[in-house]
Amino acid sequence: MALKFITAEEAASFVHNDDNVGFSGFTPAGNPKAVPVAIAKKAREEHEKGNPFQIGMFTGASTGDKLDGELARAKAIKFRTPYQSNKDLRALLNARETAYYDLHLSEIAQMLRYGFLGKVDVAIIEASDVTENGEIVPTAAVGITPTICKLADRIIVELNDKHPKAIRGMHDIYELQDPPYRHEIPIYTASDRIGVPYVKVDPAKIVGVVRTSEPNEVGAFTPLDEATLAIGRNVAAFLVSEIKVGRLPKEFVPLQSGVGNVANAVLGCMGENPDIPAFNVYTEVIQDSVIKLMKSGRVKFASGCSLTVSNEVLEDIYANLDFFKDKILLRPQEISNNPEVARRLGLVAINTALEADIFGNINSTHVSGTRMMNGIGGSGDFTRAAMVSIFTTPSTAKDGKISAFVPMVSHLDHNEHSVKVIITEYGVADLRGKSPIQRARIIIDNCVHPDYRPLLNEYLEKGIKGQTPQDLKSCFAFHLELAKSGDMRNVKWENYL
Ligand code: COA
Repeated sequence: MALKFITAEEAASFVHNDDNVGFSGFTPAGNPKAVPVAIAKKAREEHEKGNPFQIGMFTGASTGDKLDGELARAKAIKFRTPYQSNKDLRALLNARETAYYDLHLSEIAQMLRYGFLGKVDVAIIEASDVTENGEIVPTAAVGITPTICKLADRIIVELNDKHPKAIRGMHDIYELQDPPYRHEIPIYTASDRIGVPYVKVDPAKIVGVVRTSEPNEVGAFTPLDEATLAIGRNVAAFLVSEIKVGRLPKEFVPLQSGVGNVANAVLGCMGENPDIPAFNVYTEVIQDSVIKLMKSGRVKFASGCSLTVSNEVLEDIYANLDFFKDKILLRPQEISNNPEVARRLGLVAINTALEADIFGNINSTHVSGTRMMNGIGGSGDFTRAAMVSIFTTPSTAKDGKISAFVPMVSHLDHNEHSVKVIITEYGVADLRGKSPIQRARIIIDNCVHPDYRPLLNEYLEKGIKGQTPQDLKSCFAFHLELAKSGDMRNVKWENYL
């Protein structure tokens, strides 16, 4: 069946008010760009005419500004799931103008197949290649592409020539059967290939192909500060000591690391540490540092869902495919983030907390318990299932006015039963095998900023009985004080009786 080439505006005409639209990509890698901008334009035009125009959005995770940002500013998003990190969209979620459903990234594809989230009307997919018989080769990410292509009535392909056709082979597309027919996922090492290198779709569903030439919108890392570097060094030192005492195998286990500056710094420090053997990565987001370590031989193989690398690094990968092609595999997120595989491979999982409490519970998503930051992402997929689940965080935020450690988290994403180790620039709290009061002591002594240690020790001395000495009258005093005076250091316990 011959492919029909159309413009982005023509493609947008296939998207109607109230449609549910699935988008390819994961982070600002691999998402379509030209068609979303055209949909946003169409939304603005319809709104000016007084007509409603909003869509429901299913994505892999966060996306670039040309997708989430454009559609948010056009007030074109009625419903959004799963992860996001765009400031304009975040404002809409927190104003409750867009309904946001935040869930574990490994689950979104099966939730769609199960029919829990409604119909997928249109799938818009960025591709490096598409054939007349319906083979679509993704670009720098896979996300939920196989599932939305299967479920959608109409498929629009954005064929982006920034991604060479020669990357065919870098993706491993495998979709799960649904219960009661599901089998185990046959991945036993990070590099196991279990699927095919393309997404097979019914070619009759492809309503048009839009040619584009647009780079990914991956942001630059901010320069590393001393606290971030200290966190990285503390993680590396902790892992070395675990190898030395035999709690981690000397061959090491695959690593999962989260997103952002801290994760990038942790990987850099691990790579520099000669006592950590060259290792494999089994993660969702492959960042610049992984590619750098691959070039120096410190990372042997990286399995992920997206190449969330700077455009400079992406061009380097594409220019040296002979070197990289057998060292990188991009999988759908229900495989890259699958808890079954994470548990089997025995990952070391390292993710970032927004806030932790002294008993080991983690808030990854809500500022002061109410305002959504980004979403849980894949952190829950890995944290519960990993061999060792580590959370990192700077000990304070906003020039010390906010302590990352509070008596009780203001929102709970990862509970004390899943969180095994917490690491800040001050040190490591190994929570394994410890009671709540023992965890509190070690977190305060090793991880909390010195300005907040006396306050949190006083909290423990309130004389509360029971397994967990949580004072229900004052457990949110830090947050209340922040709202009142703008500085958690001003807490006086007698004001919170
Ligand atoms: N209360 C209020 N604000 C806080 C805060 C707290 N306890 N802790 C941090 N902040 C603020 C920071 O000051 C910063 O503000 P700014 O943007 O105005 O500068 C902002 O929150 C981000 O903090 P930062 O230290 O730069 O964090 P980050 O970029 O490393 O992101 C998370 C941290 C938790 C938001 C991010 O890792 C995330 O979204 N995690 C959930 C998803 C996940 O783990 N994905 C990976 C899974 S594989």
